[in-house]
Amino acid sequence: PKDAFIENLIAKMSLEEKAGQLSLYSDPVRTEAATFNPAVASVPKEKMLADIAQGRITGLFNGMGVALGRELQQAAVERSPHGIPLIFAADIIHGMKTIFPIPMAEAASFDPELSRRTNRAAALEATACGLHWTFSPAVDVVHDQRWGRTAEAAGEDPYLAVQFARARVKGFQGNDLKAEDSLLACLKHFAAYGAVEGGMDYNTVEISDAALYQTHLPSFAAGIEAGAITIMSAFNDIGGVPSTGNRRLLTDILRGQMGFGGFVVSDFTSEEELIAHGFAADGADAAKKALLAGCDMSMQSGIYMKYLPDLVRDKQVPLAVLDEAVRRVLRVKKAIGLFENPYRSLDLKREQTQLRLPETVALAREAARRACVLLKNDGDVLPLKKAGQKIALIGPLASDLNQVNGYWVVWPDTRQSVTLEMAMREIVTPANLTVVRGSDIDAPIAGGIEAAAKAAQAADIVVMCIGEGQEMSGEAQSRTEITVPVAQQALAEAVAATGKPVVIVLSHGRALALAGAVRDASAILCTWFLGSEAGHGVADLLFGDHSPSGRLPCSFPQKSGQEPFYYNHRTTGRPQIGDDANYRARYRDASFEPLYPFGHGLGYGKISYGATLLSQPALDWKGRVSVSATVTNDGKRPVHEVAQLYIRDRVASVTQPIRSLKGFRHVDLAAGDSQTVTFELTRADLAFVGLDLKWQAEPGDFDIWIAPSSSTGTPARLNLKGI
Ligand code: IFM
Repeated sequence: PKDAFIENLIAKMSLEEKAGQLSLYSDPVRTEAATFNPAVASVPKEKMLADIAQGRITGLFNGMGVALGRELQQAAVERSPHGIPLIFAADIIHGMKTIFPIPMAEAASFDPELSRRTNRAAALEATACGLHWTFSPAVDVVHDQRWGRTAEAAGEDPYLAVQFARARVKGFQGNDLKAEDSLLACLKHFAAYGAVEGGMDYNTVEISDAALYQTHLPSFAAGIEAGAITIMSAFNDIGGVPSTGNRRLLTDILRGQMGFGGFVVSDFTSEEELIAHGFAADGADAAKKALLAGCDMSMQSGIYMKYLPDLVRDKQVPLAVLDEAVRRVLRVKKAIGLFENPYRSLDLKREQTQLRLPETVALAREAARRACVLLKNDGDVLPLKKAGQKIALIGPLASDLNQVNGYWVVWPDTRQSVTLEMAMREIVTPANLTVVRGSDIDAPIAGGIEAAAKAAQAADIVVMCIGEGQEMSGEAQSRTEITVPVAQQALAEAVAATGKPVVIVLSHGRALALAGAVRDASAILCTWFLGSEAGHGVADLLFGDHSPSGRLPCSFPQKSGQEPFYYNHRTTGRPQIGDDANYRARYRDASFEPLYPFGHGLGYGKISYGATLLSQPALDWKGRVSVSATVTNDGKRPVHEVAQLYIRDRVASVTQPIRSLKGFRHVDLAAGDSQTVTFELTRADLAFVGLDLKWQAEPGDFDIWIAPSSSTGTPARLNLKGI
């Protein structure tokens, strides 16, 4: 049903004001947006206020601050023709002032509830700084780790992506969209951005409809179900039709099939980029095609403002289409309470009192520690001893405050962040800790290797903080070689040559192909980019105050050339089996296996899994089956285990992945403890997207595993009976 208040407004608005409601701009007034993003021209405040007063702007993004926000809002409410409030947005991807782990890292916790909590805390800070809307979560499913934006998503698995999409939306928005601390979520990037060819950002996407529906749409559906009412259209095309001009995608599928009722915003000029794609002839054509496709709001290009009024006057765009887009935007503004209280989230007191609260910082520490994944721990070199052990802390990522937060933080309070060196100094006496940089991130430093080798020689154990710099992943940061930079690899080789045990503390925004001394180190702890409390989170694990509990949300390949590489691929007619290599699906020069599989992660115990047991061998069409396994900690320390449920449909009319994650359970096990984990499966869990693009299950045999990773365990056999 139409909303009388909104219809009344639409009836009074001029075409220019309507186009204004669809035009969003980066905020050069409230921040140095132009410095943050060179594509943004600096606009004087007076010009901005004049545009707002004329109703030419729907909102501003990537600026913050309450005092100026109130002034801008006042211009909209008191001076624009119909007093429609502005919406203030920003890329709050993993925190505002207190920074949490990058989204990929948080996915490694395999704990969506943790993500709900961190995003709730981020929403509290962002709304205290005058923001209403975040361009987050990225719910892209990523098959190629060369893609720089893998850091912002939840990894390679659609099931995990669904869980995190739901949690992140709930976290940002809370229970009441109108609440002062509710931050409107925006699901992005619609659609299939994670499938760009060659992992190169902005690139073409060529995927089947079945892959679109089965792999890339479910996380958006989950986010919508969780209450998301804004979506960002992606930069990429799919099969030659750019997402932002794709009517089938933005209207038929998103609204018609997925029931989305909010508005779609373009991704930073992606509507204007229809020209560069070769899909639109000029700005007017691009504005027309994007709006008609279902892209309601233009970000940054200004082409809606420039062309839509005349396009409607010339009858090239029906007025009803323009009105519908405006209606969607106004409905969202109303839903978040802006008409009732335009000054919501613009409260000076909250800005002064709600940032970096002790509980928020404590949560950042918990999240940091739970995001880490222990890949190996040969000879139980970890945990380290707090006393009586000489430690050499080596590497360019040990002490650099500017490297802990990770990509996509706009206003971090970096001075209050904690590096690993800082955290270690809280624990270890100065006599037992030597710190040497050894190398820059991607260049050697004079005498660095010699100093590092000397420090290693004099120590009992080496902790090496190496990996990618935080600027090496993120937007436009795709890489062809996903390796540790050469200078740091050389440093690792030299340190390994001393023969001292080496613990690698790896920083990275993606899976890396580890080699040589890094791969062969005694222990490897994946730490991604962990945010403000990175140092504390890592130290909590290194010194054994907590056992590592993260699991890989992406497969680590042995070589970059294996990408795109993901565990849930289909088999081929010639799958690789054991060592029987000839004329099989494999590379000449690389194994077909991962270095570390999706789901892998160790604790400080020794875990064993009993057989996967089914409550019955056959599942009735409308029935349920219980699947269980006993998990035992045979080690000497407590462990937090993540038991994973996988299935495989052995024969189907559309061939299915060799394994698909269908659930996971967290279990705390004291030394010597056993627990039985149980999952329930129904036909819905066995379904796939058929040739008709509908979810369906087919009777037949399925393999079922409860296992510690995607490449371990022995399956049980389940038969799904027909109707
Ligand atoms: O939200 C981002 C998007 O993910 C990439 N391009 C720029 C947008 C706004 O900053």
